[in-house]
Amino acid sequence: MASARRVWTIAVGRLDDRVIIVTGGAAGIGRAYITGFVAEGAKVVVADIDGEGAATAAAEVVAGGGEALAVTVDVSDVGQTEAMAKATLDRFGRIDGLVNNAAIAIRVKHVNAPVEELPVEEWDRVIAVNLRGPFLCCRAVLPHMKSRGYGKIINIASGTFFKGTPFISNYVASKGGVIGLTRTLAREAGKSGITVNCIAPGLTASETEEMPASHYEARVPDRAIKRVEVPEDLVGAAIFFMSKDSDFMTGQTIIIDGGVAIN
Ligand SMILES: NC(=O)c1ccc[n+]([C@@H]2O[C@H](COP(=O)([O-])OP(=O)(O)OC[C@H]3O[C@@H](n4cnc5c(N)ncnc54)[C@H](O)[C@@H]3O)[C@@H](O)[C@H]2O)c1
Repeated sequence: MASARRVWTIAVGRLDDRVIIVTGGAAGIGRAYITGFVAEGAKVVVADIDGEGAATAAAEVVAGGGEALAVTVDVSDVGQTEAMAKATLDRFGRIDGLVNNAAIAIRVKHVNAPVEELPVEEWDRVIAVNLRGPFLCCRAVLPHMKSRGYGKIINIASGTFFKGTPFISNYVASKGGVIGLTRTLAREAGKSGITVNCIAPGLTASETEEMPASHYEARVPDRAIKRVEVPEDLVGAAIFFMSKDSDFMTGQTIIIDGGVAIN
């Protein structure tokens, strides 16, 4: 006999009402994280040095019925990262998640040169944004996350770290540092209910306007999965690391590159 009980299924997002800051969220892969988080019910903070781009991205979220705040921030600046955290708390009352995605990578360029020719200032500039930046952003949100006993932090590294890609030692070293920061902070913050994980993307077509398609297609033969990587390929893992599904997982680095590096 069929049961008389009705089973109600309520459609809920995996990130309903979570408040998540995405640095470098104005463009590229960060913008894809924003879109994915909003689709899962999150309220987002688009934090970027490109204030106009951040405002546009946030306005698009709001136009689509979501909640978003745009913050102009240079992640290498102590005061500005603290102001980013404060603006988030002033607007939403809490910070559940942080994605340290901003970097000198594609839109903000870095110089390619062998180590002995790389200007010292160029080394410092990239390390300041790509490594000091995630450190400062973690530092800005941790007191709040610890006081609530909850938080999700995702740091963004790069497949270049595993390959030792030549002529971008500053970039590769910064991404290795990000993995180190992930591991240490995971141990420090686990007892406070905070998970810290890392995503290492492969070469991703995040700037198709400027780069010829051939630049991205050249990587395809190295991959187990034979196609160009796109920003959306990274979003599922970011949602997972932001959701309760990953509550017992911390200090990990997940490589998403279509199977260039297989561990
Ligand atoms: N695209 C790739 O092939 C690739 C591969 C591996 C890793 N990654 C990593 O993924 C992340 C996103 O890459 P992307 O391709 O979208 O890069 P991108 O250059 O398109 O976007 C980076 C964003 O960070 C912002 N930004 C730069 N400097 C900043 C600063 N000082 N403060 C705040 N915001 C700043 C930029 O304005 C931009 O919106 C980066 O951490 C990058 O290193 C990218």
